[in-house]
Amino acid sequence: MFEQLVGKLPVGIAVVNEDFRIVYLNEFFLDRLPHELRKDYKEKVVTDLFQGQGKFLKRRLKSVFVLQHPSFSYWEQRPHIFPFKSSRPITGEETQMYQNMEILPIKDPSTNTRLACIFLQDVTAQASYFRTQQKLSEALKREHDAQKKLIKKLDTAQSQLIQAEKMASTGQLAAGIAHEINNPIGFVNANLDTLSQYASHLVTIADGMYQHIDEFSHELKEQFTSLYRANHYEMVKEDIEQLIAESTDGLMRVKEIVENLKNFSIESKEGEQSIELNTVCKQIVSLISAQYTKPNFKVDCATEKVDIIGFPGPIKQALMNIVLNAAQAVEIDGFVKISITEDAQNVTLKVLDSGHGINQKHLKRIFEPFFTTKPEGQGQGLGLSVAYTAVEQHNGKISINSKEGKGTVVELTLPKESPKAE
Ligand SMILES: Nc1ncnc2c1ncn2[C@@H]1O[C@H](COP(=O)(O)OP(=O)(O)O)[C@@H](O)[C@H]1O
Ligand SMILES: [Mg+2]
Repeated sequence: MFEQLVGKLPVGIAVVNEDFRIVYLNEFFLDRLPHELRKDYKEKVVTDLFQGQGKFLKRRLKSVFVLQHPSFSYWEQRPHIFPFKSSRPITGEETQMYQNMEILPIKDPSTNTRLACIFLQDVTAQASYFRTQQKLSEALKREHDAQKKLIKKLDTAQSQLIQAEKMASTGQLAAGIAHEINNPIGFVNANLDTLSQYASHLVTIADGMYQHIDEFSHELKEQFTSLYRANHYEMVKEDIEQLIAESTDGLMRVKEIVENLKNFSIESKEGEQSIELNTVCKQIVSLISAQYTKPNFKVDCATEKVDIIGFPGPIKQALMNIVLNAAQAVEIDGFVKISITEDAQNVTLKVLDSGHGINQKHLKRIFEPFFTTKPEGQGQGLGLSVAYTAVEQHNGKISINSKEGKGTVVELTLPKESPKAE
């Protein structure tokens, strides 16, 4: 009964002697032998009977005989030691059997000969379950990575949207204010002009009178002299011209700010035209280098002529603002370099400077309207927001890279044929 039981166990049992010859096989092994070998398998060398991993099997058996110690082989390292098909594949189709094998040293009690017992377990079901899980978790990880990337993209898109929204609302507001301020600026300017003329008339009258003061009676002379003195005539006369000149100057600055503000919404009246970017850059450089003599300016252009279709006003303004910022950031010995490259669809402009760079904290805010780090009167904080709006209008891209103390690169990418802006 015991022999029957061992024979029918759902694990393979084989007993081998020290010459690797078969002493015993249970039904698990026998059923899987080719028909012609089933009868006289005894005394056959195990590796002849089961070809495949012969060398490996012999080595393991040998070690068990020598060390008298069990040896285990796990399916993950060596899945198919015996060339068997699995009887219980998980998918129903026949596959190669995945096996765990253990070899144990035993002894024949009657003859005292050393033997080795091979136990073989069919672990195809576990193995395929494990493999499926592994594939699933790999797929999951891939999906997770893809999601992470997507979230990052969404994050960027969101901050760009917020930025665009900010620009749009501030832009509208600014354009509205600019429009309103334009009228008073007009009449204040005209009035200042008239005022300046009137003042000079008054000065002429007062001066003329003073020249004839000696011809007045003693009493009148006293009266006029004290009148002139009490009203600080000399000082007023000197100051009045300067005050008016300063006011006109200030008004011009306000006008400039308003002009910039109006550029926010860029209600450009001119239509789309061909713009020669290389020429525009050269013009800007010559304009700015007249004011800022410190840095070395250089325009690098791969080809003679680089054209895009767009609105010349906003594009020029944007470039001007960017190059101006670069020039303002540069100390003595610094440089500002503009490079222009193109491919089939886009033109890329890089404005590189060796200036003081931008603090990481500020970098996020530089496109915000009215954000400036410059002292009062020197920066309105509108240059980059105007540039941003112009680039946006042309379906382009603007990005800034900067390292504090090293310099800044502003990169503009403009499509050669920007779709009609609304
Ligand atoms: N090339 C540059 N190098 C260093 N800082 C820059 C540069 N371009 C822009 N910035 C920073 O961005 C701010 C905003 O620029 P902008 O919008 O042109 O306004 P403004 O020049 O009037 O300050 C600047 O105040 C400055 O801090
Ligand atoms: Mg600026």
